[in-house]
Parts: sequence; C-alpha cells; structure tokens
Amino acid sequence: MNEYIIRGGRPLVGEVTISGAKNAALGILAASIMSDESVIVENLPDVSDIRVLTQAIREIGARVDQIDQHTVKINGSTITDYYVDNEYIRKIRASYYILGALLGKNGYVEVALPGGCNIGSRPIDQHIKGFEALGAKVDIHNGMIAVQADELVGNHIYFDVTSVGATINIMLAATLAKGQTIMENVAKEPHVVDVANFLNSMGANIKGAGTDVIRIMGVEKLHGTEYSIIPDMIEAGTYMVAAAATQGDVLIKNVIPKHLEAITAKLVEIGCHIEEFGDAVRVIAKKRLSHTHVKTLPYPGFPTDMQPQISTLLMFSEGTSVVTESIFENRFIFTDELAKMGAQVKVEGNSAIIVGVPRDRVTGAKMSAPDLRAGAALVVAGLVADGVTIVNQIGYIERGYEDFDIKMRSLGADIEKIDEKDEKAITRFKQQVV
Ligand code: EPZ
Repeated sequence: MNEYIIRGGRPLVGEVTISGAKNAALGILAASIMSDESVIVENLPDVSDIRVLTQAIREIGARVDQIDQHTVKINGSTITDYYVDNEYIRKIRASYYILGALLGKNGYVEVALPGGCNIGSRPIDQHIKGFEALGAKVDIHNGMIAVQADELVGNHIYFDVTSVGATINIMLAATLAKGQTIMENVAKEPHVVDVANFLNSMGANIKGAGTDVIRIMGVEKLHGTEYSIIPDMIEAGTYMVAAAATQGDVLIKNVIPKHLEAITAKLVEIGCHIEEFGDAVRVIAKKRLSHTHVKTLPYPGFPTDMQPQISTLLMFSEGTSVVTESIFENRFIFTDELAKMGAQVKVEGNSAIIVGVPRDRVTGAKMSAPDLRAGAALVVAGLVADGVTIVNQIGYIERGYEDFDIKMRSLGADIEKIDEKDEKAITRFKQQVV
C-alpha cells in the first residue's frame, strides 16, 4: 500500500489547475447509459471512483472507449446485464445511480448496496421513497437493492431530507417516466445542476435544477451528446485551504468562483486575501489567521466536504473556533489523528471546539486517512507541521483527488508517494537536507 510522506514548513506558491468534478462525473457517467446513442464525456477527473464506475458500466455490456485520460465515449445500447455486483462497485457511493439510470430503460435493475466514506449511517430511504413514488417496487436482499417497475409514472415528490444522491437518482429515473415529476426539498449543489444540464443536452426536459423545486417532463428516449464536466469545487477548496494554511500565494485555475463563495467568504473572514478572476481564484495568506465559527449546510452553505479541511486550518489559527457538522453524524474521526500532532480539538456532539496552536508547536506524526476529505485534510496538516508527517490509507484520498502529490509538489510542497513497506525510502526522505 502507498502512503504520503511530507515535510512541513514550506508555503505553497504557484499555480494549480483543478480537475473535473467527481460528484458530477459519477451522476453523468450513469446518465450516459440511458441513451442508445454514443455519448462523449470530457473533463473527467482521473480518480479511482470514476475508474470503478466506468468499469462497472463496461461489465454490464455498455461500450466504453477511453478517448484520452479525461475523455470517454460511451454507448449504452449493448447493455445486457442488469445485475451489478463486484468488490469495486460495493466500495463506492454512486453505484446506486445505475438504478435510476437503467430503471426507465429496462424496468428491472439490481445493484450492490452503496459503499462510500464512513462518515455516518448514510441511509437510502429517500432514494427508495422516490422510486416508489414513480411506481417502482424496491426490495433489499443479500446486500443488493433491486428495483422493478413495469411503467414509471411522474409524481409529486417532497424529500424529507435534502439529499444530493437522492435528488440525482430520482432525476435520472423521472427523465424517462411518463408525465410530469415535481421534486421538492432537493439538493442544489453545482454537481446536481451539472447532471441536469447533461440530461437536457441528451434531450431530457428538466427545469429548476439549482433551485428548491425541480420539474421534469418525461421523454420517450434520449439521444447522444458531447459534454464537458464542471470543475471540482471541493478539490478547488482543498487547495485554497492548503494555500491559506501554509501562508502561501496560490492561483487556483479552472474554477467557477461562484461555486466557491461560501469557502471564499470564510477564508476572507479569518484573514486571507482572495482575488477572483473569470475562471480562477488567488489565495494569499501572509500572516497567522484568526478563529471563526463554521456550520456545514447544503449548498449554497459551507460544504460538508470542506469541513475536515477548514477544521484543520483552524487548528493553526489564533483563538478558539467552533465547527458544527450538520450533514453527517460521524465526520470528526480525523480529529483523533490530528491530536497526534499536538492539535487541541474537543468534539462535543456534532461540534468540534478547536483551540488554535502556533505552527511551531504542531509536530509531524504518522496518521491514517479515515476517509477521502479527512485524508486530504491530514496532508494539509502535514504541509504545515514541524518535521515529517506520514499519511497512510491514501487509497481514500486517491478516490477523489487526481495527482494529489504531483499537484502539491508543483506548488513547492515537500511530499512524496512511497510504498509503506519501503523503509529505505522513508529513511532517505527523513535524512534529506532541507
Ligand atoms: C454526496 O453523498 C457526496 N458523494 C458526498 O461527498 C457529500 O458529502 C454529500 O453528497 C453531501 O454533499 C457523492 O456525490 C458521490 P446526501 P450522498 O444524500 O449523496 C442523509 C465526497 O467527499 N440521507 O446528500 O450520499 C444522509 O445520511 C463525498 O466526495 C438520508 O437520510 O449524501 C446525510 O445525513 C463524501 N436518506 C444527508 O442526508 C437518504 O436516502 C446528506 O446526504 C439519503 C441521504
């Protein structure tokens, strides 16, 4: 297994280009098999979650041609298998999008229950509610979720919980249902809007994505399209926080500044200088930042996927901060890892009280990534801490960050990816004269 080894203390300086949005790409890849014509998807992030879903689509019979590292051509007309279960698909969250994508096309689909980061119980009751509202029968057995519908008929669906996954999944199914579907209390994240825009580019009739109410008029079938995925706002936010934490000066390119507004506002509030351009943001932090309060909320609020990163930044800031995680019930596990570096964080219920510690009193440590975003946050902590930090279980990080160590090195970070058994490499890194 690989791990990252990091020597802290260098400010990040330079330019970094953001990849396509993982959480848009997963919904779009699933949607691409709803047509019997060819679909070309560009600006895919080269991360393991995307490779897993692409392989699963190939294994049920779709034609999938890798045009280049970030572009695939997909044709769903050759799908013969509506039973999707393998060790890889069970690890990712987005496997359930195959249900919404194929239900309208085949009337019966069975997929392994979703995996994903261990950040809470992550039920799927809202997905089930939506499928049943459209006239489907749902059965969970042997670790599988099976959905069957002779005919999908539009309905008025009010979600009890604002759910990105359920919003996307039911939008997929309703696209080929008969008549109108109205969905309320929906997720408004940019990646939800991107999936809706993609479906509309295939001939779907979806209005209101990004607002509280989505209206869908079902269509008979979808045609092919060529589409480029939006930039990943969470990858962008992660580099913004890394620039701030290391007191650097970084231009983050290929972003949509509007998607980053909640992150930008919080960083400015604690003392960062941020310049916005058409498709880039520049983050400058030349002094120790101050404390603040953060509460994660559905978009356009502060994103839960940026909570570990901002919590880590605040552990170096002046004063006491409070971070409240209102989306997931178990997303502070990583603070136990940060405590190994000397961080002063106390978790009480769904809030973390963070007492800022000067950078020179936070020392490198060996830590394990508990999930995707927390793993990235531990790397950010290692970029700041005094001495050498090792972060293992980096498979989590590589699920959602393309070339994470390569991009960080291009900004001046002293970070390498090594085999955790390669003691010589660890010794060599530690003996390097800086
Ligand atoms: C998506 O997960 C993202 N994953 C997550 O990103 C992200 O943290 C999350 O949305 C929130 O923004 C993908 O898009 C692949 P939810 P999802 O359904 O869809 C509850 C990352 O780092 N809920 O919006 O699973 C749920 O328990 C990952 O890229 C129900 O109660 O999240 C949670 O408390 C981590 N019933 C809240 O809703 C349901 O049926 C939000 O979950 C569904 C969800």
